[in-house]
Amino acid sequence: MRKVLAALLASAMVFSLAACGGGDSKETEAPTEAAKETEAATEAPKETEAATEAGTEAATEAAGESQAAASGEGLKIGVCIYKFDDNFMTLYRQELETYLKETYGAEVTVVDGKGDQAEQTNQIDNFISQGVDVLILNLVQASATETVAKTCADAGIPAVFINREPDAAELERWESEGVAATYVGADARQSGTFQGEIILDTPNKGDINGDGKVSYIMLIGDPENVDAQYRTEFSVKALTDAGTEVEELFAQRGDWDQAKGQELTANALAQFGDQIEVVFANNDAMALGAIEAIEAEQRKMNEDIYLVGVDALDEATAAIKEGRMTGTVLNDHIGQSHTAADVAIKMANGEKVDTKYTVDYVKVTE
Ligand code: GAL
Repeated sequence: MRKVLAALLASAMVFSLAACGGGDSKETEAPTEAAKETEAATEAPKETEAATEAGTEAATEAAGESQAAASGEGLKIGVCIYKFDDNFMTLYRQELETYLKETYGAEVTVVDGKGDQAEQTNQIDNFISQGVDVLILNLVQASATETVAKTCADAGIPAVFINREPDAAELERWESEGVAATYVGADARQSGTFQGEIILDTPNKGDINGDGKVSYIMLIGDPENVDAQYRTEFSVKALTDAGTEVEELFAQRGDWDQAKGQELTANALAQFGDQIEVVFANNDAMALGAIEAIEAEQRKMNEDIYLVGVDALDEATAAIKEGRMTGTVLNDHIGQSHTAADVAIKMANGEKVDTKYTVDYVKVTE
């Protein structure tokens, strides 16, 4: 599994580098290619190794090029994370900090917004008064993007928004007004679609009891977050687009949190019991909580219930391998953090960049 994951990360990295060099919308339209390559790579271990090597070489070369093109020595970079207590964003920020320091020799300060937009706004103001060269921003509320982008622009500091996709209208404003701001992330619609496809790939296409419909529960991240909205919508849309009838039994917010995922699933199981055939979790942390609740009810994973998440946390891929979870979708924190860093360094050096960079998701099953 480790090898497969390494290959997934490497192949995702190649795509991220492609995204880094190219425009915005094209990459988002090529998810299936990425998924196909991964599936093929999973089936052919030798090719996988070759692909990994090729990926690593491409990554090294590209990193070398960007280093040569833009130096980070002496640059001061402020990084605002929406909250440190988030499994996926912890992996992301650690990789981001290490990469910025090791690849570019930049001076990096990372701060914890503790889920509070007012607190984070103060942190941004502090970074601005300290005169940082560029800001990397994982906003608490994506709806604050326009205000924050204007504050940064007024201070003449370029801004790289990460993880929480701003409105399309705001991206258009950056483009038309030449604002030094960009968004680096992934297209959450793709992750939702992949979750639905994983269910469609099961022997009974998710209809375990054969009643002609897939009865599911939805563990929602944070309903204000576009990742949660799109994953909720597109996971189910993949089923209905394939002509599968669906029935939503339960959908509640779990704020990306493992303990809440456990609690919600336990409640849903108490209420709907065997009727639940599929658990869609907007992320792996909540899916890991769901596993606890499912196992407490002695339900048999992949026999009388399916469970899919997003992120491909180590704990989730281990659970998939052990048959305790059906699948997940790799949210490539390495590709995303490296792209964010590369773009931030370019902007700090006065280069013009695109308004959006996306990194592909990749399906992960046993
Ligand atoms: C998502 C990720 C979640 C959570 C969220 C925070 O992309 O899948 O686990 O980290 O970002 O905004």
